[in-house]
Amino acid sequence: MITLGIETSCDETACAIIKNGKALSNVVSSSIHLHKKYGGVIPEIASRCHIEYINAVLKDAIKKADVKLKDIDLVAVTNGPGLAGSLLVGISFAKALGYALNIPVIGIDHLKAHIYANFIKGAAKDNPGFPFIGLVVSGGHTSISLCRNVGDFRFLGNTQDDAAGEAFDKVAKIMGLGYPGGPIIEKKAERAGRAGNVNFPRTYLQKGSLDFSFSGVKTAVLYFSKTKDYTQKAIPVVCRSFQEAVFDVIVDKSFEACRKHRINMLLVGGGVASNKRFCKKMSERALNCSVSLFVPKKCYCLDNAAMIGVLGEALYAAGKRPAADLKDTIRLRSRPEPRKTSTGFSKAVNHWR
Ligand code: KG4
Ligand code: ZN
Repeated sequence: MITLGIETSCDETACAIIKNGKALSNVVSSSIHLHKKYGGVIPEIASRCHIEYINAVLKDAIKKADVKLKDIDLVAVTNGPGLAGSLLVGISFAKALGYALNIPVIGIDHLKAHIYANFIKGAAKDNPGFPFIGLVVSGGHTSISLCRNVGDFRFLGNTQDDAAGEAFDKVAKIMGLGYPGGPIIEKKAERAGRAGNVNFPRTYLQKGSLDFSFSGVKTAVLYFSKTKDYTQKAIPVVCRSFQEAVFDVIVDKSFEACRKHRINMLLVGGGVASNKRFCKKMSERALNCSVSLFVPKKCYCLDNAAMIGVLGEALYAAGKRPAADLKDTIRLRSRPEPRKTSTGFSKAVNHWR
């Protein structure tokens, strides 16, 4: 069976051809260069770019996989969470293809797909299995879930404000380092060596909570940037200290989830998982806790359509069939609903990356 995966939830337009868990092609075209000067993704620009790029991306994916359009048996498309306009482009495109080729189109959850990226053949060091704890660390989400089989994901914890990647992006903006912040902060942190440390807060929320909150550490960097200790020379140390604070909490909560649910397999996905320091900290803890850790290759950590196709293929094999009208299933945010801030304004916009 040949599956076409389509991903357009944010600023990457992506198509991939999947056959029996293998990515025959994985094409990604990003509009990030257009968002850089704004320091974040502008939804209207992102959706217009998807319309411009998607035909060419599909053609390229088909060519690289050496298949024909008529060979495709199933279309799997991201239906949330994400930017409404961006999702709509991918879903409309998928539905048109499904109609023209007379093949099924199924909607795929972007977060579950990030974790499922570990099942792409050759993506991780080994083949994972079930059950597992899934961790998503991306620009829009930080979540922990428990998965007993392909159709049974249960969310155990979620970000209550900024996601991990979002905190990296905002902290880089505070320091005037550019966008996206993750890779820049990682590089600066590497240059810090071992000397110096700023003691940024680690937020654990209530005892036993698997939810996350990174707005405190972000604000702590903002306050620190206004002190006399903040100089150009101090930036690498600030980056390293910030990174450590964020990663300490993620590592602790992920392995706490494994302990609590007696699961010894942990699958990680999302852009932040491409950070080498993060992977090192996770691997060290995994060894200590006797947990098998899976992190996909960088190209499958960042937004891509192979993860959508592979999860689609597995769900279809497990009996999932198209919803009556895929448009109705567009979801803008992950559950649970974002909480109100103390000022009463919804933080929803933070989840719309
Ligand atoms: O998974 P992804 O490509 O898109 C979303 O679904 O959000 O993740 C993008 C996020 C951005 O916030 C980016 O700053 C972060 O991942 N990121 C990193 C690194 N590379 C990308 N964060 C930390 N270290 C990195 N090396
Ligand atoms: Zn993503």
